[in-house]
Amino acid sequence: MGRIVAVLNQKGGVGKTTVALGLASAAQVAGHRVLVVDLDPQGSSTWVLGVDPREVEESVADVMSRTPAARVIQPSDWGENVWVLPSSPTLLSRDHGGNPTRLRTALAEVADDYDVVLIDCPPSLGALTTAGLTAADHALIVVEPSELSLRGIAAVADLVDQVWDEHNPELELAGVVVNRVPPVSAEADRRYDELTRIVGKKAVWQPVIPQRVIVNQALGERTPIHGYGARAADVAEVFDKLWVKLRKLISG
Ligand SMILES: Nc1ncnc2c1ncn2[C@@H]1O[C@H](COP(=O)(O)OP(=O)(O)OP(=O)(O)O)[C@@H](O)[C@H]1O
Ligand SMILES: [Mg+2]
Repeated sequence: MGRIVAVLNQKGGVGKTTVALGLASAAQVAGHRVLVVDLDPQGSSTWVLGVDPREVEESVADVMSRTPAARVIQPSDWGENVWVLPSSPTLLSRDHGGNPTRLRTALAEVADDYDVVLIDCPPSLGALTTAGLTAADHALIVVEPSELSLRGIAAVADLVDQVWDEHNPELELAGVVVNRVPPVSAEADRRYDELTRIVGKKAVWQPVIPQRVIVNQALGERTPIHGYGARAADVAEVFDKLWVKLRKLISG
């Protein structure tokens, strides 16, 4: 199986970037080599990885216009095993069309240099997410246990199906990661049960990611979650387990 994973949901703020970077952090600690592809014009993961998306000379937008990815990929500030294919504000103009297979071709040329390639998708189901799914071997959907978050999940699953059908027969739905689960909440419990009814129990990845201030702080401080020692040990362990699961899937 291939090693390219698209992390997606059209809903904003559910934790796509948090999950992509949490997995990158866990993979790095496990000694694996990671490429994060920032497909979001907001450039959050680029910035958290230590690169200013407003200052990059070439970005993933150029890669979608045939610039070789190897020329655009940069080292991150996180460590020698984490690399970034940066976003830039110009990427926004790419959400409305273009050839969805270009990114796939470009990433295929570099994917073997990494143990995993994590694509952080933007909060839309437009051309960028379609390009991300076309490039990916696995689609990982991130949701929150809230009604609004669950209402959109059918549309995300439909896009995965559509891309599989039209552009990428290799694409598989890896599953659904549940983020931002509060310590005690009857509402969240109900939504979790609803999610398992919608997508099936097996599709929902365990463990779920708890809602914790340190997760937000880590993004703001551009620091991997594993860099906080005991303060983030429980969350770091969750990402370690999710990484073990993803790695198994990739290694097939
Ligand atoms: N488990 C969590 N606990 C606490 N805060 C969280 C958690 N997950 C995400 N957040 C916070 O919620 C906000 C949105 O998260 P994130 O940027 O990962 O979502 P996103 O889906 O990538 O958003 P966008 O759609 O804008 O790309 C961030 O400020 C982040 O720090
Ligand atoms: Mg994001």
